[in-house]
Amino acid sequence: MNNDFPWRNSPLMKAARCEPARQTPIWLMRQAGRYMDDYRKVRRKTPFLELCKNPDLCAEVMLTAVERLGVDAAIIFSDLLLILEPMGLELEFTAGEGPVLHNPIRRPSDVDRLVELENVEPLEFVIETVRKTRAGLDDALPLVGFAGAPFTLAAYAVEGGPSRDYRRVKSLMITDAGAWDALMQRLCRAITLYLNAQIDAGAQLVQLFDTWVGCLGVDDYRRRVLPYTRSIIEAIRPGVPVIHFAAGNPALLPLIRDAGPSVISVDWRVRLDDAWTIIGHDRAIQGNLDPAVLLTTPDEIRRCAKEILDQAAGRPGHIFNLGHGVLPQTPVENVVALVDAVHELGSLT
Ligand code: CP3
Repeated sequence: MNNDFPWRNSPLMKAARCEPARQTPIWLMRQAGRYMDDYRKVRRKTPFLELCKNPDLCAEVMLTAVERLGVDAAIIFSDLLLILEPMGLELEFTAGEGPVLHNPIRRPSDVDRLVELENVEPLEFVIETVRKTRAGLDDALPLVGFAGAPFTLAAYAVEGGPSRDYRRVKSLMITDAGAWDALMQRLCRAITLYLNAQIDAGAQLVQLFDTWVGCLGVDDYRRRVLPYTRSIIEAIRPGVPVIHFAAGNPALLPLIRDAGPSVISVDWRVRLDDAWTIIGHDRAIQGNLDPAVLLTTPDEIRRCAKEILDQAAGRPGHIFNLGHGVLPQTPVENVVALVDAVHELGSLT
């Protein structure tokens, strides 16, 4: 059915399949967020978690951002950590500290406390957000669904929030292989169910965020993370591209490629051309502007965008994006300047 829809041959879907496209597509992680007036206005009336559970507002926030920026895709407005709530973790977003999980998995025996996600009913509001965003979006634009990758979700579940050294999750991972396997398998089943439900509801591709995996060395990633991430990617509906995002450690790139995603999203710590050589040019790449560049001037932004486009050298399979999310201090005009520059400089005609 998907075949008949205009988004199928959009620049972004073509790039995700590594096919030539008429221009380099661009979207941005955190393209809807605190840097936008419209979003701040919504947030003055609605706490973040409440917003995430209101599909009408979630769709509106993302559709407003897509229209304002002129990007080539929408991502559902949601959060990585919502999946942990029906699995028994008490989630709160505090004003100063960001997300907190009040009953983290600290000991191996705590893993049994994590509830198996039998179906996506408790996350129906996210599925409804997919439907509503898809319904309001231009037919030519694909919709990206997303979930946290198992390592990053495990890191949050064990640490209870962001961490500087990840010592608790690393200790569990290293000292108790059985508990680690149980935790990762339970997360994998939940993530697979969740992503396929987003696809069935109208997402054209999905992104797995492994935001914190860069804290691991290559051998730990290979033994203790790669098999799980791969099992999710293998179980995603056939023909639906999976984008794998990881930050912080370019040494993991060859292994991330082995996990099998269609698109690998890289950050600014590695040059795009070097990353693409490592990944192989038969695989699509996403990235990789440093979000801090968006705090500068339109001229500087254009110069940096051109450098990245020059490294991509017009090869099929480049999706322009940032190396991580838009920073809250970013002027909206600078983001628009980036989108315009990429459309102009990355046009093949
Ligand atoms: O990209 C988008 O525009 C879609 C929405 C989106 C949000 N979170 C909204 C959000 C997406 C894709 C995410 C993913 C997410 N959430 C990640 C992975 C990507 C990344 O940035 O590394 C992570 C680690 C989280 C967890 C999370 N949510 C943190 C650490 C925080 C607090 C820090 C921060 O940036 O505010 C959040 C809150 C959050 N998620 C906000 C938004 C718009 C800000 C909430 C607010 O309005 O105060």
